[in-house]
Amino acid sequence: MENNKVFMFLLISSLTVSTVVECFGAGKANDPLGKIIKAQLASSKSGLAEGYATKSTAEYSPVYMGTQDGLKEADKIDALPGQPEQGVSFDQYSGYVTVDAGHGRALFYYFAESPQNSSTNPLVLWLNGGPGCSSFGNGAMMELGPFRVNSNGETLSLNEYAWITAANVIFLESPAGVGFSYSNTTSDYNLSGDTRTAEDSYTFLVNWLERFPEYKTRDFYLAGESYAGHYVPQLAQLILQNNKITNQTVINLQGIAIGNAWVDFETGVKGMYDFFWTHALISDEINQGIQLNCNFSTPNTVTEKCEDYLDEADDLVEDIFIFDIYAPLCSSSSTTPPYINIINSDMVEELYHDSPLTVLPVIKELMNSGISIWMYSGDTDGRVPVTSTRYSINKLTTSVKTKWYPWYNKEQVGGYAIEYENLTFVTIRGAGHFVPSYQPARGLAFFKSFLEGKLPPSSF
Ligand SMILES: *[C@@H]1O[C@H](CO)[C@@H](O)[C@H](O)[C@H]1NC(C)=O
Ligand SMILES: *[C@@H]1O[C@H](CO)[C@@H](O)[C@H](O)[C@H]1NC(C)=O
Ligand SMILES: *[C@@H]1O[C@H](CO)[C@@H](O)[C@H](O)[C@H]1NC(C)=O
Ligand SMILES: *[C@@H]1O[C@H](CO)[C@@H](O)[C@H](O)[C@H]1NC(C)=O
Ligand SMILES: *[C@@H]1O[C@H](CO)[C@@H](O)[C@H](O)[C@H]1NC(C)=O
Ligand SMILES: *[C@@H]1O[C@H](CO)[C@@H](O)[C@H](O)[C@H]1NC(C)=O
Repeated sequence: MENNKVFMFLLISSLTVSTVVECFGAGKANDPLGKIIKAQLASSKSGLAEGYATKSTAEYSPVYMGTQDGLKEADKIDALPGQPEQGVSFDQYSGYVTVDAGHGRALFYYFAESPQNSSTNPLVLWLNGGPGCSSFGNGAMMELGPFRVNSNGETLSLNEYAWITAANVIFLESPAGVGFSYSNTTSDYNLSGDTRTAEDSYTFLVNWLERFPEYKTRDFYLAGESYAGHYVPQLAQLILQNNKITNQTVINLQGIAIGNAWVDFETGVKGMYDFFWTHALISDEINQGIQLNCNFSTPNTVTEKCEDYLDEADDLVEDIFIFDIYAPLCSSSSTTPPYINIINSDMVEELYHDSPLTVLPVIKELMNSGISIWMYSGDTDGRVPVTSTRYSINKLTTSVKTKWYPWYNKEQVGGYAIEYENLTFVTIRGAGHFVPSYQPARGLAFFKSFLEGKLPPSSF
């Protein structure tokens, strides 16, 4: 109850200005992933580069388990402030799950069940990226959640294309320091990193499933975008490892989906600048300079001469909204929607240390595990563009099972799809980085295909 009162207060106080999806605020100011990429480019000896994939898993110590009695009922939300009076035919919950009692570290979640078939629909955990982006403020309120904020900034309306029509969705604020998630031990914040993010998320899940035991054996999926290209595969890996060695809850993980996902430094950076050139944002000369002088294999191989060309390229895209290159950029005088400011955390991006240059070995391992692996890409994103994802998939060296084909939604090409051995790749045509915001119908169609384990429709 207490938790929810705090949450309601914060929510009301944060809904005072509208969030218009076409304009996500000053792209540059709110670009934690861009900062991580820049930091990695600049780091000649990258302590960031230590691979999570090589992490020893021999020693398992049982995760913290808190008592969950009565907490599900306490977490139930009667109604969000300003939600429509009619048509809210699903249950919502929010609250905290303690993941480290000693440090007083707790993660905040918002959970919305399906309006229909909630008792049989799968369970999905959604993660936004950043590091530092709030899954509640972004994922739930601007992308795939059941509501959208109206232009008066005070009321909510139903999102017709909410992903809860196909699954029961948990939006997790992760790691501690992001959104409403916190730690009572301030030094926890500068120890943030991929390893602990995965461990905390795992502890969250095991405890959450005790709070909501009816979901313990339900088909479970992980999904996320952007820097969650790290979080999701790493958490999946940890779940599969712990499923084998623990006598605690076995998490029934069936698959993962990652969108415009930051998974590999080399292909990520190369694909970004190639996208800039192929989308007529930078000159032939700069492109040629990059092609001739840049080796993105590691930050060490990026020379000063290369960086000069990159700087010239960056200047040319400075006034483009990089997360959706054809969308308008908010003017510098327009106010950034407050719940982006309030909920997204600067703290984490400055203090986030353990971020390996690649998670492709983790994805490769998952591809062998039998769970389904889908990558998707909004094809007008310039931050983690479709070129980067295609180069990453090339590095995974897998063979084609179903050739590249256009898929359809509402009698239009929704994008393209290709099925590889143990990996499916789907583009969402005309969508930027935040796929469900820009192409809600296509985003939902993609999501349903993913959950059904069927390729998106190849005819009208
Ligand atoms: C953090 O400290 C506050 C104030 O003492 C306390 O109410 C809260 O339960 C603590 N959080 C955790 C996760 O222990
Ligand atoms: C709910 O499940 C039934 C039985 O499987 C199915 O016919 C129906 O289409 C489902 N409803 C929705 C909204 O998915
Ligand atoms: C973490 O933060 C604390 C308190 O702000 C500070 O004293 C400490 O030196 C920091 N540690 C690191 C490794 O940055
Ligand atoms: C797991 O196994 C250990 C050792 O057999 C046992 O001590 C512990 O109680 C078990 N935990 C649970 C949750 O069953
Ligand atoms: C890029 O650098 C790596 C590491 O030094 C090297 O192995 C590779 O051959 C280089 N690539 C090219 C195209 O020079
Ligand atoms: C696909 O997964 C199977 C095991 O499920 C494995 O034998 C095979 O090597 C995998 N192929 C690729 C390309 O990952």
